[in-house]
Amino acid sequence: MRIDIITIFPKMFEPVLNESIIKRAQVKGKVKIFIHDLRDYTLDKHKKVDDRPFGGGSGMVLCSEPIFRAVDKIRAKNQESRVKSKVVLLCPQGRKLDQKIAKKLAKQKNLVLICGHYEGIDERVREVLVDEEVSIGDYVLTGGELPAMVLVDCLVRLIPGVLGDKNSLNFESFEGNLLEYPQYTRPAIYRGQRVPDILLSGNHQKIEEWRKIEAIKRTRLKRPDLLKKRKGN
Ligand code: ADE
Repeated sequence: MRIDIITIFPKMFEPVLNESIIKRAQVKGKVKIFIHDLRDYTLDKHKKVDDRPFGGGSGMVLCSEPIFRAVDKIRAKNQESRVKSKVVLLCPQGRKLDQKIAKKLAKQKNLVLICGHYEGIDERVREVLVDEEVSIGDYVLTGGELPAMVLVDCLVRLIPGVLGDKNSLNFESFEGNLLEYPQYTRPAIYRGQRVPDILLSGNHQKIEEWRKIEAIKRTRLKRPDLLKKRKGN
């Protein structure tokens, strides 16, 4: 998978992309991530990438010109992306990110992420370039950078071969619209709190049953909305 990210704050990405599983996925060649500074694509001699909104109003709007030029350049460099790249705009008015959207996007070979900013983005970018708008929740952040990082993190771990244990994807929260069952590790007793006996029993069938029941209980308690989405419930 190849992900190109267009941003006015390229440095924000360095620490996140160079740590942990995202870093390892890049080293293993599972994902290639390129950060593009929007200011490198403007023809403005002062490297200005925003302007006042037509019709008046507060704030500034990201101009279409550098964004179109950035996407053109990315597509020209990466011939394959001309046909397959999907352009995603991170903005509060997008579809709310969930595991289902993440799984769909993780199947793409090429993604271009545009980090929205200021009061907004010239609408022609949405109309012409953007295939999908994604929000990470019903709250407003200062820009699309953190949402882009959230999306990248969420996608990278879904790429086959990125997580060591195949099962860790199957049993995690939201799989089958259930939250994850309670987990424990050594010691078996800590400050008087015991790990449930069943987990120490070695009876794998019983452990599976217990985990399923606990996952359902927990989902009913914390996220009853998810249970409604479950088939057969
Ligand atoms: N930009 C600002 N807030 C955002 C959000 N909640 N999701 C995606 N992009 C954003």
